[in-house]
Amino acid sequence: MEIRDRNLAQAGIDKINWVTAYMPVLATLEKELKEEGIFNGKRIAMSIHLEAKTARLALLLKNAGAKVAVTGCNPLSTQDDICAGLVELGLEVNAWYNATPSEYERHLINTLSIKPDVIIDDGGDLVILLHGKYKNLAENLIGGCEETTTGIQRLCARDDEGCLDFPMLAVNNAKCKHLFDNRYGTGQSSFDGIIRTTNLIVAGKNVVIAGFGWCGKGIAMRAKGLGAKVIVTEIDPVKAIEAVMEGFEVMTMDDASKIGDIFITVTGCCDVVVDRHFAQMKDGAILCNAGHFDSEINLVQLKKLSISTAKRRHNIVGYKLPSGNTVNVLAEGRLVNLAAADGHPAEIMDMSFAIQALSLRHMLLEGPKMSKKVYEIPNEIDEKVASLKLSTLGIDVDKLSEEQSKYIKSF
Ligand code: NAI
Repeated sequence: MEIRDRNLAQAGIDKINWVTAYMPVLATLEKELKEEGIFNGKRIAMSIHLEAKTARLALLLKNAGAKVAVTGCNPLSTQDDICAGLVELGLEVNAWYNATPSEYERHLINTLSIKPDVIIDDGGDLVILLHGKYKNLAENLIGGCEETTTGIQRLCARDDEGCLDFPMLAVNNAKCKHLFDNRYGTGQSSFDGIIRTTNLIVAGKNVVIAGFGWCGKGIAMRAKGLGAKVIVTEIDPVKAIEAVMEGFEVMTMDDASKIGDIFITVTGCCDVVVDRHFAQMKDGAILCNAGHFDSEINLVQLKKLSISTAKRRHNIVGYKLPSGNTVNVLAEGRLVNLAAADGHPAEIMDMSFAIQALSLRHMLLEGPKMSKKVYEIPNEIDEKVASLKLSTLGIDVDKLSEEQSKYIKSF
């Protein structure tokens, strides 16, 4: 057990109780899974952004009978009060805010040392350890679930090479995950992070969004709603046309970097903003990232190019360029919605983590029969989560009559 400060427990429990009230789907599932008993005595290792909604998922799994060990998946998204609250509530926690690379790795290893039956990974760091020096910690492992786009890309690369040692479910690809979490969740929470960190207006500014995937679409939608002039950069011509049809300007980063006021990268790729871009940015430009890794804005090049750096405010570092202009980087280029805010809204994570809980259940039941591959989430899980969400919102939808069913199958 390694956390920063047990005295923060009550603050963490307050945060967890707050989001619990807005996560009714998880409450329903907790009851069902507890009665069913499938999680009884099972060991689960989780590496995921350690904030209140994640804590709620960990508690659900514990209340359903599992032994749960948790750690973060990014040193700047871990909240120390949540860690303390979880320890108070009986979970095994190894994580703290701003862990050094060696501390971060030690926390992952400590988490895996329970020799899990199943894992939840976010970005792929647990999977990497379980395929390297710590293979022995996978001796009981049936398989696991991966939360995000980048983690799935890493898993698929491993799968393509035929060197994945256990089955993994691509939770991100479930409709009830990426259509809501990546789009509406990242859309709202990225601006939550930017606005609370900078205290500046978005309206009237040129907001450059690199990547028009599920997250980029959500960020662009919210930027427009806040009154920004939205500029999109892309490498995929189809996505670029989609952005054009939404009424956004599409251009290269070489052009956008001259006119942007706020830059948000969300591509899952590296070196999206590099030295030739920094060099021509306006004075006061704001740079942040919402993609999984901090490799989208090349901070090594920015540091090299700068004459000086200065902390401007909490979570903002200003880099003075040879041109005399200063560009400001938020949260060290780590996911701005988690490192500089509290992540996605609770109602969104109610769905994402319902998918996680049901996917883990699926892995416990079906994993022993599955091949060592990446699997999509069964459609029934998506349908169950969507139906539960609708019913908690008090919304009914129409059902096909027998005649209608026959009609649509008759072509
Ligand atoms: P996606 O695959 O739907 O979209 C990524 C887009 O970026 C694609 O359209 C791709 O063509 C484009 N792209 C790739 N390289 C580019 C480059 N060099 N320049 C411009 N565009 C480029 O992926 P999604 O789901 O939108 O996720 C993006 C990233 O955000 C991933 O790293 C993912 O793990 C992460 N993510 C972050 C969340 C958060 O809470 N901040 C939530 C969910 C995902």
